[in-house]
Amino acid sequence: MVDFRNAKPRRLRDELDERLVFLQAFLREPRQVASVVPSSRFVERRILQLGEVRRARTIVELGSGTGGTTRAILGAMRGDAKLLCLEIDDKLHGLLGRIEDPRLIAHLGCAGELREVLAAHGLAAPEVVISGIPFSTLERTLASRILEAIAALLAPGGRFIAYQVSASVERLCRPFLGSAHEELEPLNIPPVRLFRWTKRACAD
Ligand SMILES: C[S@@+](CC[C@H](N)C(=O)[O-])C[C@H]1O[C@@H](n2cnc3c(N)ncnc32)[C@H](O)[C@@H]1O
Repeated sequence: MVDFRNAKPRRLRDELDERLVFLQAFLREPRQVASVVPSSRFVERRILQLGEVRRARTIVELGSGTGGTTRAILGAMRGDAKLLCLEIDDKLHGLLGRIEDPRLIAHLGCAGELREVLAAHGLAAPEVVISGIPFSTLERTLASRILEAIAALLAPGGRFIAYQVSASVERLCRPFLGSAHEELEPLNIPPVRLFRWTKRACAD
């Protein structure tokens, strides 16, 4: 089986170009992108640990941005796993085309369509959902709709990881998945909080 973790090192020019596309996306839609630079390697590492990405077969990423977090997830995933990414910005979504990995399904669209997109690709209930979407600046009904769908769609025992500057996602998601485990990653611009919810394995 191919080991995608041994991918070629990326060219500096590609990385700089991706950062420019990200900055331009932020300038167009600051409330939607919510950051001027992509997440740091330190945030990526925490996402992989909190989500226990290595043992999942179906993973969803909401708000893939330039694909830095996407590459990190792919680097940690099993060879037989699938990663579905939803990105709302077409220029950022276009960057995912640079990733050559048959395990990746990149979808241009809103996270509010997650249920339909999962079904369209015939994917099983995700064991991990990872989101960089800035829930604090989303329209409130859309934020609640996305969080409710994540809670319903997650496999029993599945993990939902949200990383953002604001803590408001914890309050917004509590009705659907209860209280979260929270960590702070200071080595990022700006420092971010990471939240993890675990869906109960069975009803009691
Ligand atoms: C803070 S950036 C995170 C990007 C990347 N994952 C990273 O960590 O560098 C948030 C991303 O979420 C995307 N986004 C915002 N609202 C969205 C929505 N409703 N559906 C899908 N993507 C969305 C933005 O376009 C942006 O790429």
